[in-house]
Amino acid sequence: MLKGCIVGTGSTTPKRVLTNKDLENIVDTTDEWITRRTGIKERRISSGGLDENTSDMSTKASLSALEMAGISPEALDMIVIGTVTPDRQFPSVACFVQKALKASKAVALDVSAGCSGFLYALSIADNAIATGSCKNALVIGAERLSSITNWEDRSTCVLLGDGAGAVVLTPSTGTHGILSTHLQSDGSFWELLYSSDGISKIPEMLNTIEGKPFYMIMDGNPLFKKAVCCMADIATEALEHNELSSADVKLMVPHQANLRIIKATAEKLSIPMERVYTNIYKYGNTSSATIPIALDEANREGLLKKGDFVLLVTFGAGLTWGASVVKWSF
Ligand code: ACO
Repeated sequence: MLKGCIVGTGSTTPKRVLTNKDLENIVDTTDEWITRRTGIKERRISSGGLDENTSDMSTKASLSALEMAGISPEALDMIVIGTVTPDRQFPSVACFVQKALKASKAVALDVSAGCSGFLYALSIADNAIATGSCKNALVIGAERLSSITNWEDRSTCVLLGDGAGAVVLTPSTGTHGILSTHLQSDGSFWELLYSSDGISKIPEMLNTIEGKPFYMIMDGNPLFKKAVCCMADIATEALEHNELSSADVKLMVPHQANLRIIKATAEKLSIPMERVYTNIYKYGNTSSATIPIALDEANREGLLKKGDFVLLVTFGAGLTWGASVVKWSF
């Protein structure tokens, strides 16, 4: 039975740092409130002029993942990107990345699954490898959330940041690799988190947003509660499916939306925070990019060894959520 195996990781974030102190000059907030309620101290904000669009960051993260994997772009069969902030409505960010990498053989597509985009993309690539229709795949999570941030809304603008992360997958017949990915969606809660823009919906939306530019709208408190329950439940399902317990997890790499959400989820799973990777304090919530950036940082910090069980768990707009169990392979 073939499965996808992570053989390289990469990530990048924009140069510009926006601190909580900076935000005190933009909206009615304080460093103390943001730190206490979210765990965020600063975030990175793209500048389009510095080639820091979603496709630019995706390409940069991909190059470092490919370098680690020792695989050339020409050997890629598939590029899948989870994003809610594509450069354009179409073509896909993945097509721009394919062009930039000169990955001429790769089929390229974007996946829209809110903050869960990376795990949805990972599952698509892993399944393509399992069926033999694809050998080498590049899976990316990338966002320029600052392009849809309402800088007048203190309840959302303090949370968001920009960045990209990538992993390279190759086929494995051994015991290492992606053991399973579990995904769920529930569109009935879409109004908890959505973008005010649209294509087919634009006329109706313009009436409700009074001509303001497009941005993210969020009902944070109910979302918080859903996030904890959904992530804990699906992580439990993923561990049980692989006959593992929380004690077997070497590192949990969760979506970084709020440190309190991460802590509550870890507590429900009985995983101590020493075995949970967090970098939300320096990047905020970068949506689809949080997990691949965190995974790359954990990997480069030497926290992952061959044979370790890694639990990836996510939650986002849709609603969408998911968990993967990975047996680390290098
Ligand atoms: N600074 C100061 N005060 C603030 C700020 C701010 N930046 N933002 C909100 N407040 C105030 C509110 O106005 C409210 O004031 P009130 O009591 O006078 O009405 C008070 O703080 C409490 O507000 P709550 O919304 O209840 O605060 P909460 O503890 O829930 O924290 C937060 C808000 C951080 C948004 C939290 O609800 C959260 O993290 N939610 C989940 C986010 C999430 O998971 N998103 C999903 C993924 S994101 C994605 O897909 C991109």
